[in-house]
Amino acid sequence: MEGKSPQIRTALPGPEAQKLLALDHKFVSPSYAREYPLVAKRGEGMLVEDVDGNTFLDFSAGIAVVSTGHCHPAVVQAIQRQAGTLIHMSGTDFYYPLLAAVAEKMAEIAPGNFPKRVYFGNSGTEAIEAAMKLARYHTKRERIIAFFGCFHGRTCGSLSLTASKPVQRAGFGPLLSGVAHAPFAYPYRCPCGCKAVDCERACTCADFIENVLFKTTSPPQEVAAIFVEPVQGEGGYIVPPIRFLRRLREIADRHGILLVFDEIQCGMGRTGKMWACDHFGVAPDILVAAKGIASGMPLGVTVARADIMDWAPGAHASTFGGNPLACAAALETIRLIEEQYAVNAERMGKYLMQRLAGFTQKHPMVGDVRGLGLMVGIELVKDQVAREPDGEFRNRVVRSAFEKGLLVLGCGESTVRLMPPLIVQPEHVDFAVDVLDRSLTELENGVHRAGSI
Ligand SMILES: Cc1ncc(COP(=O)(O)O)c(C=O)c1O
Repeated sequence: MEGKSPQIRTALPGPEAQKLLALDHKFVSPSYAREYPLVAKRGEGMLVEDVDGNTFLDFSAGIAVVSTGHCHPAVVQAIQRQAGTLIHMSGTDFYYPLLAAVAEKMAEIAPGNFPKRVYFGNSGTEAIEAAMKLARYHTKRERIIAFFGCFHGRTCGSLSLTASKPVQRAGFGPLLSGVAHAPFAYPYRCPCGCKAVDCERACTCADFIENVLFKTTSPPQEVAAIFVEPVQGEGGYIVPPIRFLRRLREIADRHGILLVFDEIQCGMGRTGKMWACDHFGVAPDILVAAKGIASGMPLGVTVARADIMDWAPGAHASTFGGNPLACAAALETIRLIEEQYAVNAERMGKYLMQRLAGFTQKHPMVGDVRGLGLMVGIELVKDQVAREPDGEFRNRVVRSAFEKGLLVLGCGESTVRLMPPLIVQPEHVDFAVDVLDRSLTELENGVHRAGSI
């Protein structure tokens, strides 16, 4: 498939896809929120083929997971080799070399020049749960601070931190007590009211923690940790000012609070450096990674300063966490990211932003184009002055791109997120930008025509 261009041969969904959708709709949990009916059959590099032989260019990467592209030959080989050697042993009760090898590698590459230890789970949410439990265990404090718009997972602990969309929380309460939320620095529509030009210099979002939370709901001596995504993912692909993360570090240090960076979506080379926080010059006490770490094998890791990871044997564990297949895929994925793909993400991220540079002038419904490396958001608005989000229009753009052979997803209220595999090349960027350009033009013309009737 690689080397071929995306091609749409049938109406979408095609006849085979329709059969699958009927089966899925009958038996699969209705809680999944599919944005369009892609029924994937196989993937190779940047391309995904559906069950009807249509091929798509993938700018969603399985939600930022297939960092090395679909079925990278070196990753496939590592998994196959491992599958023939040892599939499972459970690091909770036994030792095997790959668990220690990935722990050593993660301790080496995670930010911060201090000894570290590594805990293994199977997903992002599990890695967050581990970080929450560890923070409470180590500090003997109960409270946690998180941010509006951030997404940390859907199990009850991590969901207590998640403050991205009401549908993710509705009906599941009561969640963990002791969690308070602060505004996330969002330069395009700053919740503290500072204008974009001032945001870098005078961002006051982080100050909300000391000025409001510590004085009202969250006595600092009871706060175990501050959890934050260095670049907000699900909540809208928002890059905060450098000052924001630096202030969080200062506040945490001043009050003996642990700083936890959720790099589940923004880590593993996606922003052009191994970790998004490397752009900000701030290291956390605990770093959480998952998604892109093993190119699609399920793995979540919690990396903490060694003196913090002081829990007792039996205090926390997971049967499958750090499964040998996932570890084999992770070692290969990390090698590829270190050797080639983080650098490629930086180059291609710049090229993508360059290609999108004229979008706010050309398209009246594009309010903002922002990003870091290959984590790029296009925010759609009813008009550029009022900046009112237009989620319905965003959904139509995403759907139109799918019909033209491009896989993208939404995030936040009205943003299209572009998160291709880190192997992406200029011709892929050109295809994606051209599709989005055409989709926006067609749909904007439709809106304006409808408006003039
Ligand atoms: C930043 C962030 N944290 C946590 C999670 C939860 O990860 P998982 O879906 O693997 O549980 C996600 C998933 O989208 C995420 O983007």
